[in-house]
Amino acid sequence: MNQFLCCTLVFLDIFIKWTTQGATPPKYLHYDPVTSRQLMCDLCPPGTYVKQHCTAVRKTECTRCPDQYYAEDWNSNDECQYCNIVCKELQYVKQECNSTQNRICECIEGRYLELEFCLRHTECPPGFGVVQPGTPESDTICKRCPEGFFSNETSSKATCQKHTNCSALGLKTALTGNMFRDNMCHDNTDASTQKCGIDVTLCEEAFFRFAVPTKLAPNWLNILTDGLPGTKINAENIERIKQKHNSQEQMFQLLKLWKLQNKEQDMVKKIIQDIDLCENSVLKHIVHANLTFEHLNILMGNLPGKKVGKEDIERTMKLCKSTEQILKLLNLWRIKNRDQDTIKALTYGLKHLKAYHFPKKTIQSLKKVVKFLHSFTMYQLYQKLFLEMIGNQVQSVKKRCV
Ligand SMILES: *[C@@H]1O[C@H](CO)[C@@H](O)[C@H](O)[C@H]1NC(C)=O
Ligand SMILES: *[C@@H]1O[C@H](CO)[C@@H](O)[C@H](O)[C@H]1NC(C)=O
Ligand SMILES: *[C@@H]1O[C@H](CO)[C@@H](O)[C@H](O)[C@H]1NC(C)=O
Ligand SMILES: *[C@@H]1O[C@H](CO)[C@@H](O)[C@H](O)[C@H]1NC(C)=O
Repeated sequence: MNQFLCCTLVFLDIFIKWTTQGATPPKYLHYDPVTSRQLMCDLCPPGTYVKQHCTAVRKTECTRCPDQYYAEDWNSNDECQYCNIVCKELQYVKQECNSTQNRICECIEGRYLELEFCLRHTECPPGFGVVQPGTPESDTICKRCPEGFFSNETSSKATCQKHTNCSALGLKTALTGNMFRDNMCHDNTDASTQKCGIDVTLCEEAFFRFAVPTKLAPNWLNILTDGLPGTKINAENIERIKQKHNSQEQMFQLLKLWKLQNKEQDMVKKIIQDIDLCENSVLKHIVHANLTFEHLNILMGNLPGKKVGKEDIERTMKLCKSTEQILKLLNLWRIKNRDQDTIKALTYGLKHLKAYHFPKKTIQSLKKVVKFLHSFTMYQLYQKLFLEMIGNQVQSVKKRCV
């Protein structure tokens, strides 16, 4: 093909596109061997091909594409193209081939095409919401729920939802939400103005227990405070904690305060997130608990050490939701038994419950909680990280105290 002809064809192509809309068919250049001249022939419309080029005395003769062949555009081809697309596994025929277009295949519902395979749309985990749902061509796009939003499910459809505004509903916030769960509201009328108020949760206890030595050096609190990164807890607050609490409880309160003061720090954010995850799992495990006073009394009676009294149980039943009652009572038990490990005590208590016609389901769910807290591997991980962070101070104090 000479250069001139090539250029002409490029222009012709533009010309064709321009004229396709018009009434007259677009043309193409054809060398007529009889007259030895270039003729302007009509192109064949989509769905047809050229059976006979035009001559000086005859128009182009077009014929319909045969079955399973197609021609998408106006053309001067002497055959149509074969419908060569075959739908693969997990695809369906979105558009069967006809004379003007090839077959179109698409991934079935819930999948998208990636490198020839129809992959399942990603499900966003709890704490993440869908910002762009998957299509047959693209995967789901997940994004971390922003402040004030949550997602408590694994889903390829659910977006992050706004936390319920308890005060707008005239209610109090009983449990502040996070990226994994909604705010929990409660009625602030009559007796329930007092909160259930679990001050140190089982997860926080599991998480921070390692930092608490069995015997406390007199200045232990200050050493820990100095070692902790981020915003330091001021002397006034340390003094307040010292006065209000004793022994190991001071540690929990201090670490809790530190967590609160530094919640914007990346590392602390991660710790908070992991504690939240842990608390969420614990709540999930005991969600079926719906125990009577008798049951709670038996459970508390079976824990070692100083007992939680009947009044405390009654009060707890009045102030706490059924799912939180056991957690609150364990919290009260820990306050009475300062230097004990609640999780160990619960493990012990559960062993002796069988004799009491105690609901099996509850025993099982509590065993799961214990097992979960033991396997709370993040805790072990942080233990290492934390100890490295607050460094040899802790180690040396621990050694001195043993
Ligand atoms: C082929 O299918 C497409 C899509 O449905 C349609 O737009 C077109 O008109 C069809 N062609 C013929 C010749 O029926
Ligand atoms: C998720 O949160 C909503 C709103 O608080 C609640 O109704 C639903 O039961 C929760 N689902 C799960 C699986 O926790
Ligand atoms: C909740 O609602 C109250 C009253 O309508 C409003 O003042 C407050 O800003 C809201 N809080 C959030 C976090 O939207
Ligand atoms: C818990 O017990 C109360 C009173 O016995 C009952 O009204 C409620 O439906 C129970 N809840 C569940 C989740 O079983």
